[in-house]
Amino acid sequence: MNSMKSKLTYLKMPELFEEFSKHQNDFFAVVDIKVKSHLPNWIQTSDKVFWLSDPEANKTLIMYEKVIDFFLKSGIGRTSKLIAIGGSATTDLTGFVAATILRGIAWKAIPTTLLAMVDGSIGGKVAVNARAGKNLIGAFHLPEMVFLCFDFLSTLPEEEWNSGKGEVLKYGFLSKKIHDLIMTDAPTEIIALECAKYKELVIENDFKEQGERVYLNFGHTLGHAFEATLKIPHGTAVAMGIKYLLEIFHSERLKDYHQLISRLKLNETDMNISSYSKFSIKDFMNFLEQDKKKIKNSIRLVLVEEIGKASILELAFTELKLKLESHAEFKN
Ligand SMILES: NC(=O)c1ccc[n+]([C@@H]2O[C@H](COP(=O)([O-])OP(=O)(O)OC[C@H]3O[C@@H](n4cnc5c(N)ncnc54)[C@H](O)[C@@H]3O)[C@@H](O)[C@H]2O)c1
Repeated sequence: MNSMKSKLTYLKMPELFEEFSKHQNDFFAVVDIKVKSHLPNWIQTSDKVFWLSDPEANKTLIMYEKVIDFFLKSGIGRTSKLIAIGGSATTDLTGFVAATILRGIAWKAIPTTLLAMVDGSIGGKVAVNARAGKNLIGAFHLPEMVFLCFDFLSTLPEEEWNSGKGEVLKYGFLSKKIHDLIMTDAPTEIIALECAKYKELVIENDFKEQGERVYLNFGHTLGHAFEATLKIPHGTAVAMGIKYLLEIFHSERLKDYHQLISRLKLNETDMNISSYSKFSIKDFMNFLEQDKKKIKNSIRLVLVEEIGKASILELAFTELKLKLESHAEFKN
């Protein structure tokens, strides 16, 4: 890997496939079937395209092998470039195929969900899920290019918009610039582009998450536990993770949370535990206990004391448990 940076490009739909169309014989792609109608006819009819349905359920080793077999039969070579077109589940799976097929080939990402545009397709963390948990089989393999084309978002369902906004909320705490863009009602595209650039810059400085990249996990430790136990979209769970972290550790920042979610037009009740009848504190704690970032008997949390200023708190798991259990909404 020569550079720790993907090239981030913003394009409208007609320009996006112009260059690719000149190399149709070497266009190997995994595409989320839900975005098929956005694509030019030559891609829709290509026999080098693997159409992926239900990407999250298929982010598995079984699908990984199917995709590899498909491309090997289609004549993919070591100098070919694999293209991923879809949300982060599609880019995660495709990136992992690219990291390993023929001992690794280059790949490019065309994210089609807001979440993938601001987060999932950037940074080169690629993975499939294992039976024991999400994203446990993976690699670091940066895409050479990430093409942001907001035209795809015209078909995105509201639930997926809200999930993407959950990750945008995270950036609103990590970066003063993004916070101010949200608070001044900047267009979504400007905010999303700024989030993508912010992540790209962090990755450039800390590709393997040994330093500041870890701050991008703000809201994710509790978030992953909400995602797994409530079966809600990733970004919505991250927004919940942020809310409860603030309530427990930095309640003075809750006013920022309320202002940001109001500007982002996120529904407050979606982030309240009390809105979910199936919440089980026991399942939640069991999940947290197995969190892969757990260090012996402690857990590492990212906190934001002020907008743009993150820090790490390493806390004994028992202490976190006590803090959570003393919160009214965690009692059940
Ligand atoms: N690699 C990373 O750094 C990273 C970061 C955050 C999240 N993730 C992963 O991302 C996944 C969640 O991301 P996501 O929400 O992008 O996932 P996703 O790919 O599952 O997409 C969500 C849904 O939107 C559909 N969809 C995609 N584009 C569409 C479009 N333009 N119009 C209509 N429907 C469309 C998909 O078919 C799917 O049903 C999880 O697997 C999570 O682990 C990875």
